[in-house]
Amino acid sequence: MSTESGGVASAAAVGPPPGMKVRLSSNESPFGPSPAAVEAANAAVAEGHLYPDDQSVALREAIAAHEGLPVEQVAVGTGSAALLMDAIQHEAREGGSVVSFARGFVVYRLGARNAGARYVEVETDGPATHDRDGYGRDVERLLAAIGDDTRVVAIDNPGNPTGAHLTGEQLQALVAGVPEHVTILLDEAYHHFAQGQQGYATAAELGLDHPRLLVLRTFSKAHALAGLRIGQLTGPAELVASIDAWRPRFNVASPSQAAAIASLGDDDHLRRTVEGTLEGRTRMAEALRELGVPFTDGLGNFLTIELGTASGPVTEAYARHGVGVRPLAPYGMEEQIRVSVGTPDEVDAFVAASREVLADVPARA
Ligand SMILES: Cc1ncc(COP(=O)(O)O)c(C=O)c1O
Repeated sequence: MSTESGGVASAAAVGPPPGMKVRLSSNESPFGPSPAAVEAANAAVAEGHLYPDDQSVALREAIAAHEGLPVEQVAVGTGSAALLMDAIQHEAREGGSVVSFARGFVVYRLGARNAGARYVEVETDGPATHDRDGYGRDVERLLAAIGDDTRVVAIDNPGNPTGAHLTGEQLQALVAGVPEHVTILLDEAYHHFAQGQQGYATAAELGLDHPRLLVLRTFSKAHALAGLRIGQLTGPAELVASIDAWRPRFNVASPSQAAAIASLGDDDHLRRTVEGTLEGRTRMAEALRELGVPFTDGLGNFLTIELGTASGPVTEAYARHGVGVRPLAPYGMEEQIRVSVGTPDEVDAFVAASREVLADVPARA
């Protein structure tokens, strides 16, 4: 992992080697995009000689209608990772600190680095045990880390790669405790897979009120458009506009805009994707329970597994079974792997491989 990239491993570097069929290393949707999205993207490719709409008006209107917001409160970018970077760099442009929970999504750290801001990580509970999910988050502790120079609080809910989440009640307490001058980036990349479970609630469901609350969502997960790079940022109109002004111009490609609009119109595909993901997640969790391996039964499209031994050889053993999983050493999690939910066949392959690969890991009961 190079320090230049901030310790981010590319999917190619840790994904399955050529010929490996089961890629459970990058939290993608194995069910693929909506056929309507593919058709719309293809049609836009035929017009590829034209520049995209820099303001993404049609897409922003579609998102605004979906979220019940005025269009001025919506910006889009090339994935929510890019929007997160833009937002952190804009809000922490004069330095100060960016506060997050430890082992939060890596992009928060990269945004702070680019801004020249201090990145403050608030420690969480420890790894999962046989009786408890791992990496539980304490709101009071996070609030105590906010200082006069804090510019941004960034929260992935649910979190990647930990799988930890804040309940609606915890999130309300957090937002109520963040001073008005601090920008809150609430990253709901996995909200489709979390809704209605374990006390989870979205910002919209809670009607959260804070003058600098920005909510980020992505089309990369449940909408299965990761390769097309579309993310959304919603919040107070003026704040959204000033961050959008920092975005490189004309960077959201027309096929991507068209695909996202079509995907928003295909509720059936989205529902099937979410249902299929939750079924797969449940089956993977049951298999791990049977094997006696601790893991965090998180609310994303992945599980975070405790090995009790270095993840490298375990990752290689999975690879020999044709299954790509994600080691988490770049997050300082040397003995954990993250496994994304696959199709039913891919889940079968993961379960079969796990019976052998995890047979002797020390974390096993
Ligand atoms: C918590 C979280 N936020 C944001 C993203 C970025 O998604 P994208 O840039 O594809 O929209 C990811 C991707 O894995 C994520 O896990």
